[in-house]
Amino acid sequence: MTTARAVWTSQGLQQLVKRELGDCHLVVVSNRQPYIYKLLDGQVSYEMPAGGLTNAIDPLMQSCGGTWIAHGGGTGDRLVVESGNKVMVPPHDPSYTLRLLWLTEEEEQGYYYGFSNNALWPLCHNAYTEPQFRSRDWQAYRRVNELFAQQVLDEVGNRPAVVFTQDYHLALLSNLLKDSNPDIITGQFWHIPWPNPDIFRICPWQDEILEGVLGNDVLGFHIGEHSNNFVETVARSLDARVDRDYSLVNFRGGTTLVRPFPISVDFDEIERESRSAAVTREMDALTEELGLEGLIVGLGIDRIDYTKGIPHRFRAIGRFFQKYPQYREKVVFVQAGVMSRTDIDAYQRLAEQVDDLLEEINSRFATAGWKPIIYLPTDLPSTKLMALRRLAQFCVVSSLHDGMNLVAKEYVASRFDEDGVLILSPFAGAALELTQALIVNPYATDDFADNILHAVTMPLEDRQMRMRRMRATVRENNIYKWAAQLLVQMLQLNRRGRFSGAEPALSSAD
Ligand code: G6P
Repeated sequence: MTTARAVWTSQGLQQLVKRELGDCHLVVVSNRQPYIYKLLDGQVSYEMPAGGLTNAIDPLMQSCGGTWIAHGGGTGDRLVVESGNKVMVPPHDPSYTLRLLWLTEEEEQGYYYGFSNNALWPLCHNAYTEPQFRSRDWQAYRRVNELFAQQVLDEVGNRPAVVFTQDYHLALLSNLLKDSNPDIITGQFWHIPWPNPDIFRICPWQDEILEGVLGNDVLGFHIGEHSNNFVETVARSLDARVDRDYSLVNFRGGTTLVRPFPISVDFDEIERESRSAAVTREMDALTEELGLEGLIVGLGIDRIDYTKGIPHRFRAIGRFFQKYPQYREKVVFVQAGVMSRTDIDAYQRLAEQVDDLLEEINSRFATAGWKPIIYLPTDLPSTKLMALRRLAQFCVVSSLHDGMNLVAKEYVASRFDEDGVLILSPFAGAALELTQALIVNPYATDDFADNILHAVTMPLEDRQMRMRRMRATVRENNIYKWAAQLLVQMLQLNRRGRFSGAEPALSSAD
């Protein structure tokens, strides 16, 4: 007899937080805000940003409550905040506090575009884009990390607190917090890969960054390889004691637990939206609007980023139509994209490269009423994206290097009909879990084209068998489980270190 394993839910996480966190204040810190307020023609409206980070953390904050501190980058932000630069969110059903901090244009240039995205982002991703290390960007990065630290310390005051920091924009934050208030429990999740020590050592400020990140009690990465890379980088560079068996780093009297915590999605919520009548209506509308009737649809959904392998994917699609001309007018690839970080040269070059390839492939293979690739480079509303997922017989995730890639998990969660093929790069963290995907090296164009053929011709039964298994994986390892595991690790340290009491239990059943 098999027993179904309990699945983590929003309620289960809520109970865990209530039981274990007690009067501890939960503070999440990230660069990007989960709700951006825009001022247009005198009217304020809001939107949710496209990146995976905010979409993953927002459901947790909705379950747990607390305060989320982020940079206010929206044109309407200042109009909605109240005292302390705070506003309750989500706007339609408020459940937690968003506290915004303001940056000057110069600070944003140096810290966000400069050091975070022109230095750390390419440094951590093996995508052959050279990082740019500029002292003035580094100065701005340090300064902005200090600004975030002041806001967090002010928010926490004298209360016991758990501060959960997100990502590479805030590598120095936890150490600054510990310097001022060693009682704060600090955890950080690094949402991107951590490269091997040979790559990381080219960063002129590698020691400062490592010291900053070691201000965390718990440091999470997506997969074991990234955790190991981090531990090896520390072992090579700092005078620290590294316990590889327990993944612990001791440095200057502090201990950091370094562990993989594969991030995920809110499976049930995605499935619920996917089943909605609005999505079904949108499927009909899109079929009509894009001329998809009778065609096998392939799909890509990405921020337009050079780590996503979009040119590699387009080249493979071109090769597919060249090698298998019988599929012209029968298969179409829809690429939805969100423009990203367009102030940075590498992103502008990529956008041009994508446009050129699109033009080249479409003009080579298009016929009177059909073209191979439909490109939608605009922010699409979530109902449209969901409708596209349901219309797509296959979805392509061809990252050259990616921490996890939640697009893959979103596609799987949306396919309650248990149909659909996922073509997935082995260089995305998701490939370790979604082993029933067609795993394809994006650099191997011929093989990639053959796998597109495989996806197009795969019998329904095979598609369903693979999708069912991937869905079981994502359903069980959902975002609530990810958060529960991280929080439990942080709270265990809390109990062992500064407070008395039993260790918290990790169980979703109560
Ligand atoms: C993706 C990455 C995250 C990153 C986010 C930032 O989701 O996986 O690590 O924080 O992009 O995107 P942004 O638009 O805020 O630069």
